[in-house]
Amino acid sequence: MRKEILALLRERKGEYVSGQELCQCFGVSRTAVWKAVNRLKEDGYEIESVSRKGYRLLASPDILSEEEVLSRMETCWAGRQVHYLDEVDSTNTECRRIAEKGAAHGTLVVAEMQTAGKGRRGRSWQQEPGTMISMSLLLRPVGIAPERASMLTLPAAYAVAGAIRELCGLEAGIKWPNDVVVGKKKVCGILTEMSLEMDEIRYILVGIGINANVQLFSEEISQIATSLYLESGERVVRSQMMALVMKRFEADYEAFLKAGDLRDIREEYNRLLVNRDARVKVLDPKGEYEGVARGIDEMGQLLVECGDGRLEKVYAGEVSVRGIYGYV
Ligand code: BTN
Repeated sequence: MRKEILALLRERKGEYVSGQELCQCFGVSRTAVWKAVNRLKEDGYEIESVSRKGYRLLASPDILSEEEVLSRMETCWAGRQVHYLDEVDSTNTECRRIAEKGAAHGTLVVAEMQTAGKGRRGRSWQQEPGTMISMSLLLRPVGIAPERASMLTLPAAYAVAGAIRELCGLEAGIKWPNDVVVGKKKVCGILTEMSLEMDEIRYILVGIGINANVQLFSEEISQIATSLYLESGERVVRSQMMALVMKRFEADYEAFLKAGDLRDIREEYNRLLVNRDARVKVLDPKGEYEGVARGIDEMGQLLVECGDGRLEKVYAGEVSVRGIYGYV
């Protein structure tokens, strides 16, 4: 019930909600409402209670608890079930564990701290508590061929870039396929994994890590990474960012399922692509080559124009693309 009370108080934008209305809304006693409000206060919410007027929400802490995240969620299914942990090895690994136990499509695993966060190509993903957004969304798609699973990294990056633009007013772009960048530096990495059985997808995990409120990076990392806080000068309300990413991702995922490809986002995605028209090196296991990135096609493949005018289609799952002149 805390989550519902929180959502209602938030909806009223600092106006008083009477105790009676809360009781009627949720069919509980005044004592139950009072207890729930006290628990919220213990969690750091500033809630004012005035006799004969009721309760009003003055401020929320930057926490990622189930109530906090759910009270901001505006989706139908994405992130409608939240599995929160103070600390976990990796949200992707935890998501896989709960998927094996039958967790539902759309379940979101969230952690304040990861001790063994995973990056692409087996790299580790470090973080300080309280500064990052680390989340993994469980998808149980029907009718997607396994070779298309990694395509979902694209709508995820697109959702994050869009949410950053909307919430922080920053010019976020996408470095195909799995990074979101601001000012040529990385602010978000995405790791999509799947579980297969007899050549069919059992589930897909989309793991998203956003450098939200990080204030300091090591000298080396700061060459290629930045945070939303460092770029905008303002702290991000992480739960709000998560809810917006889920809302945007849900819409694009549904469009993807309906169309069977990325035609609905392709044009806008290409506008956000920072490595568009840039010289790139394609690290294909079958052999490296260079060319100029020309944007994605409807299947999410990066079109790379080679010296002889040939257009190579690079698929996200197999290869990595590097900028010739630095990270982008
Ligand atoms: C990369 O840039 O190499 C991808 C990084 C992905 C990190 C996120 S953080 C949440 C989720 N859990 C993980 O262990 N990894 C992803």
